[in-house]
Amino acid sequence: MSIGKPIKHDSAELHVTGAAHYTDDLPEPRDTLYAAIGISQQAHARLRSVNLDAVRQAAGVIAVITAADITGVNHLGGAMQDEPVFATDTVEYIGQAIFAVAATSVEAARRAARLAVIDYDPLPHNLDIQHAVEQQQFVLPSKHLQRGQPETALQQAPHRLSGHFQLGGQEHFYLEGMIAFALPREHGDVLIYSSTQHPHHDQKTLASVLGLTEKDIVLECRRMGGAFGGKESQPALFASIAALLALKTQRPVKLRLDRDDDITITGKRHCFDIHYEAGFNDAGLLQGVKLVYASRCGISADLSGPVNDRSMFHADNAYYLEHVDIVSHRCKTNSQSNTAFRGFGGPQGMMAIEYVLDDVARYLQCDPLAVRRANFYGTNGVRSQTHYGMEVEDNIIQRIVNELESSADYQQRRADIIAFNRNSPWLKKGMALTPVKFGISFTATFFNQAGALLHIYSDGSVQLNHGGLEMGQGLYTKVAQVVAEELQIPLSQIRCTATRTDKVPNASATAASSGSDLNGMAAQDAARTLKQRLTEFAASHYGVDAASIVFQDGQIHLGTAKTVSFAHLAHDAWINRISLSATGFYRTPKIHYDPQTMTGRPFYYFAYGAAVSEVIIDTLTGENRVVRVDILHDVGQSLNPALDIGQIEGGFIQGMGWLTTEQLWWDNSGRLRTHAPSTYKIPVAGDIPTQFTVKLLDNNANVEHTIYRSKAVGEPPLMLAMSVFFALRDAVASVGDYRCSPPLQAPATPEAILNAVQAVRDTMQDNA
Ligand code: MTE
Ligand code: MOS
Repeated sequence: MSIGKPIKHDSAELHVTGAAHYTDDLPEPRDTLYAAIGISQQAHARLRSVNLDAVRQAAGVIAVITAADITGVNHLGGAMQDEPVFATDTVEYIGQAIFAVAATSVEAARRAARLAVIDYDPLPHNLDIQHAVEQQQFVLPSKHLQRGQPETALQQAPHRLSGHFQLGGQEHFYLEGMIAFALPREHGDVLIYSSTQHPHHDQKTLASVLGLTEKDIVLECRRMGGAFGGKESQPALFASIAALLALKTQRPVKLRLDRDDDITITGKRHCFDIHYEAGFNDAGLLQGVKLVYASRCGISADLSGPVNDRSMFHADNAYYLEHVDIVSHRCKTNSQSNTAFRGFGGPQGMMAIEYVLDDVARYLQCDPLAVRRANFYGTNGVRSQTHYGMEVEDNIIQRIVNELESSADYQQRRADIIAFNRNSPWLKKGMALTPVKFGISFTATFFNQAGALLHIYSDGSVQLNHGGLEMGQGLYTKVAQVVAEELQIPLSQIRCTATRTDKVPNASATAASSGSDLNGMAAQDAARTLKQRLTEFAASHYGVDAASIVFQDGQIHLGTAKTVSFAHLAHDAWINRISLSATGFYRTPKIHYDPQTMTGRPFYYFAYGAAVSEVIIDTLTGENRVVRVDILHDVGQSLNPALDIGQIEGGFIQGMGWLTTEQLWWDNSGRLRTHAPSTYKIPVAGDIPTQFTVKLLDNNANVEHTIYRSKAVGEPPLMLAMSVFFALRDAVASVGDYRCSPPLQAPATPEAILNAVQAVRDTMQDNA
């Protein structure tokens, strides 16, 4: 009835007309106060004194709080408990919260927060990944994962290469910034409207910070204006501050961050330094690989553990690595505590192996696609086990790449590009086809659970609630489609209500792309419970055989004799005292994983895709354009092709921004200078490739029993953008007649491209 249809996002009209309620749009009760945070201006220092007299005396200020006002414990909810809400003795990055103000207007609060007189005793600071590795400055112990005999394999390989490259981080740049709106309630309880991907995490954190229990705290979020992983753990800081101020003043307190502060305070995608060694044969088949990942985690662990684990799990991307050794360092630096970002470390992990294969192809002077192909996972148990011991059961990467190669006319265009470059002295074209295989599930097994709550009212209308969060991806629409299908009622009869910790308890973050997998199943469970109940009632009430009752298109057929509407049945059930409310629950089967050995089945299944990108660069300026992109992506049996294609397009463009224009730059004092759209360049409408074709792989139901055999789509498409980076590298390689591998770093900004062009010219000169 509605599954598989290209149904528009349930808030599409609200979004484009401005009628959608985000947290900042909620009506404000009388006496609402506005908060601002006082942040550290030094990257690492002892706090000799913090004088807040001027802040307290500033116009409009009602309350000022520091760590001393924390009624519970002064740390945020991370597993390591290594990050305070407010700094006390030392500050560790520019942007760290030291105090907060509540005032009668946003202006007054922000002005007052700048009046603190803080005496810093500077300590040495470091933002450099390699320096942290040398000094063994880590937020978490390093991890090591090995399979086979990589050392022997490397020694015996006919060819060997080693290399190093740097991969930049990424600011989330969600359009709606961080916000929390706290309202004091009776018994000292608090209700918080917050833009968060994980209300239960915030609830737990608040319970500890406020010295309360989880029952005392309610979080609500109807929607976020984008999150992208940035709101998975970090909203807890803002909710904590708003709640502390609200309870202290007994007035509603809204904390909405200014964009520059948001970027200065919050963590981002991890930057990576990657070293590799690879041994391979004449066909480019990898025989042994060693990878050393080192990432910039910032001041605390936050989600760096699982993010870096996922990098290690995605070191293979779509390739069978028989003998492999992976080391992962989680570096402590005096910068924002880095966090989840679409792909959750997977993109960085995959970029490493793609870089290696690209280098191998350049070395062998052959088409990178041929080298990639030579290394793909096999099928039916041949070359099909990952380096962490999971079988790749439904490998379809060959099929995807073959279909895409022909639909995008890869071979002909590649020949044309090589010919074009020969005759074009300054403008150079490049092309690359890269695959994606991405594991779906939280690696922390316990997170793979979800709950739903479903009410049928006496008029047959339905309210649906689940633990998942809407952030633009269309989760509410997809889950409503599931309920519509199960109950055979029109979507318009269902309202999905705001996610709240008091409706569905202990819900996991909406992350790891698993929102519809988990919440769709939980909602299906609730819908089936109610359908069963209604069927039993109908059988006895109307005197028909339960087996003859069919729900179809809003009608309930009671055998062949009689039909009633869904509304009619709901009404009769209510009058006859049948409960019309049910919860649903789901936990992902089959997954298990031993964090000590890093082996097992951390993922329920894999999502696949591939992209071909064509670019053109100006070798005099480094300027470039992505001229054509063809994508073939696997979403299993699509729940909603319109939403899925939207996710693929958006994810791809976001990944393209990460690998091309988005550059984070800290100055020597440790200050992040790219904290506004003037200096931090996300892709805009004009950057969309001139030709952009996105297709869903057809006839590809998930082999696992997911919701209607669909597959998760939120994160995997981001990694399709690797093709843009390698197309740029291909264009640069043409400068050296494809005889050397350009040392292109990511992001491939015009500057990075120019540097790589120059390096290629220098190499050619040396070899001449
Ligand atoms: N799409 C939009 N429009 N906004 C977002 O914030 N976040 C991405 C992805 N797509 C995001 C998005 C991330 S990081 C994840 S994990 C998934 O959506 C989460 O939602 P899902 O599990 O329902 O796919
Ligand atoms: Mo997405 S990075 O898992 O929130």
